[in-house]
Amino acid sequence: MSAPPLLRVSSLDAAYGPVQALFGIDMMIRPGEIVALIGPNGAGKSTVIKTIIGLVKVISGSIELAGTDITGIPTHEAPVRGIGYVPQGRIVFARMTVRENLEMGAFLQKDARRRKQMVESVLEQFPRLEERERTAAGRLSGGEQQMLAIGRALMMTPQLVMLDEPSLGLSPKYMDIIFEKLLSLRDQGHTLLMVEQNAARALEVADRGYVLELGRNRFSDTGAALLNNEDVRRMYLGG
Ligand SMILES: Nc1ncnc2c1ncn2[C@@H]1O[C@H](COP(=O)(O)OP(=O)(O)OP(=O)(O)O)[C@@H](O)[C@H]1O
Ligand SMILES: [Mg+2]
Repeated sequence: MSAPPLLRVSSLDAAYGPVQALFGIDMMIRPGEIVALIGPNGAGKSTVIKTIIGLVKVISGSIELAGTDITGIPTHEAPVRGIGYVPQGRIVFARMTVRENLEMGAFLQKDARRRKQMVESVLEQFPRLEERERTAAGRLSGGEQQMLAIGRALMMTPQLVMLDEPSLGLSPKYMDIIFEKLLSLRDQGHTLLMVEQNAARALEVADRGYVLELGRNRFSDTGAALLNNEDVRRMYLGG
């Protein structure tokens, strides 16, 4: 029998004020999976992530994390519940050093010694960041900033890490590095939900994927099956 889901989204309707953006979204993520969320612009991919962390209002339906109902939690509770979030646009504190940025990611950890251990363990996973730990984040390349944003999300040892467009705007070289990094995080036991414009690449690394369109589920299957699905290829992967 397969593991029970870490995240389960059921019949989720969500809205920005009067404008409904999600219509009956169903989705689940098992522990240790990479799940890709793909679909055209405006499909509702970012909205799904934002609704999970309480940034968008739930109209109806439910969100469960490890069997606990987290529907409509206040956003500041998401990290406490074990949800790491890497927003679109590799947001880092430009004037703070790499190390300081990571420390900010562990703001819930009051014990300074424990916080330092967490920084060290994240730096170990990102040798390039370790080399530049005293550099201001604003001076890093785009790919390095994305690694820093991911590293910061890992600081709270989250149960689930959600990434919005991690490869957007990166050079092909850094795109490769980021996708490989996501695979190695999965191999270490992390559970990842990734929204990607780069649908083909995302489905190559994903265990499973969901295709959204106009705020609704359109297809869902294993990454490999979606990559080989004629309709998905034609509509979303450019033939
Ligand atoms: N802050 C907002 N206020 C009102 N409507 C919004 C807001 N953000 C998104 N929307 C609407 O919600 C729908 C889903 O948008 P969302 O950003 O989730 O799409 P997406 O799949 O992430 O697209 P993209 O690939 O462009 O990032 C769209 O119709 C969009 O116009
Ligand atoms: Mg988006």
